[in-house]
Amino acid sequence: MQRQSSMDGNICTIHVDGIPQDTLTKVESYLKPFVLSLDVLQQVSTRLERELKRGLGKHSHHRAAVQMLPTFVTATPDGTEKGDFLALDLGGTNFRVLHVRVLEEEQKVVKMDGEICAIPQEMMLGPGDKLFDHIAACLGDFLKSQNLQGKILPLGFTFSFPCHQKEIDKSILIRWTKGFQCSGVEGQDVVKLLREAIHRRGDYDVGSIAMVNDTVGTMMSCGYKDQSCEIGMIIGTGTNACYMEEMKNVKRVESNLGRMCINTEWGGFGDSGSLADIQTEFDVLVDKTSINPGVHTFEKMISGMYMGEIVRFLLVKMTKDGLLFKGQTSEVLLSPGGFETKYISEIEDFSAELQATVRRLAPECDVTYLLSEDGSGKGAAMVTAVAQRLARQSRLLEDSSGEDSDDQD
Ligand code: BGC
Repeated sequence: MQRQSSMDGNICTIHVDGIPQDTLTKVESYLKPFVLSLDVLQQVSTRLERELKRGLGKHSHHRAAVQMLPTFVTATPDGTEKGDFLALDLGGTNFRVLHVRVLEEEQKVVKMDGEICAIPQEMMLGPGDKLFDHIAACLGDFLKSQNLQGKILPLGFTFSFPCHQKEIDKSILIRWTKGFQCSGVEGQDVVKLLREAIHRRGDYDVGSIAMVNDTVGTMMSCGYKDQSCEIGMIIGTGTNACYMEEMKNVKRVESNLGRMCINTEWGGFGDSGSLADIQTEFDVLVDKTSINPGVHTFEKMISGMYMGEIVRFLLVKMTKDGLLFKGQTSEVLLSPGGFETKYISEIEDFSAELQATVRRLAPECDVTYLLSEDGSGKGAAMVTAVAQRLARQSRLLEDSSGEDSDDQD
């Protein structure tokens, strides 16, 4: 169940024929903590803004719950990008490999082909080198099936976990989230781990690698169609957002020039206790029973990996209180994962309400929503394409300034 906003802070009073009013009143009391008034939402928004600023600060970012990670993506597409790319997408229970073509003339990113490989749960919790060997094997099989083994294509690697990005192709995993807990990867450069796994096989190679968070891919894939798109947001298995920020505000990076995309990692909002007053007992239970208690509090309150469990814990309690199923719990109801998030998506239709609430909270902002079509696949290719365009442009600039100085001689 998603927390609902309501203008007066009350949910509608429920009336159902044949059900005693005191039962309905009890049901209401269970649901009330999930309803946030506009006033409370405004307070939460102010707290988030404070956390975002703390994450950008030169010294304060070390203690920030919202990490505001620099991505080294300094430009959005300008429409002149082109070429063939590979994209890898790791972030959920499946992992994808894509061959993507960026067509300059039509300003289009076309998926040539793609493949999905499952990641068995024991691999999500096992040694990191096994995971990267599996990824390299899936990529190898895909290249073979596409007759691309001999080609050295640039690769966009969407890795949807918090990373300290040192450069576009150097990215240190801070921590796993969303059910992953592979050993030997936290604190390591994931691009290096991927390259090593590819070299262990030795039967193919890839060109330059650009490491991308899925939010960045989402922003970039929409940015190709609409160049004013400067925010990427994901509410899926996990949640996160990124946006283009003026470098002068990113105090943790030594440069005042231009702009850079910041991966907020807002899933960590609340890790310092700032959401304690709106966490329900069910949120607390979901956190306690997760594989990483105390971490990614906001993500656990709103995203797909956890919403089913929040509702299941609520249903169990209501059943034990005699309000549901004649007081009889069942094996399914008592099993973790027994109530899937997809049922909530069917009940709650996620987008009109979201847009209306954003309008109320930020009336001065005119936000247009674009649905990203395969952001974490095509977008990763787009980040690689933009990086190549910038390199091309800077080479041209160097050449022409060389010619200028020759002229002066
Ligand atoms: C990760 C983010 C990611 C988000 C959405 C979170 O758990 O920390 O990096 O963007 O999930 O996939």
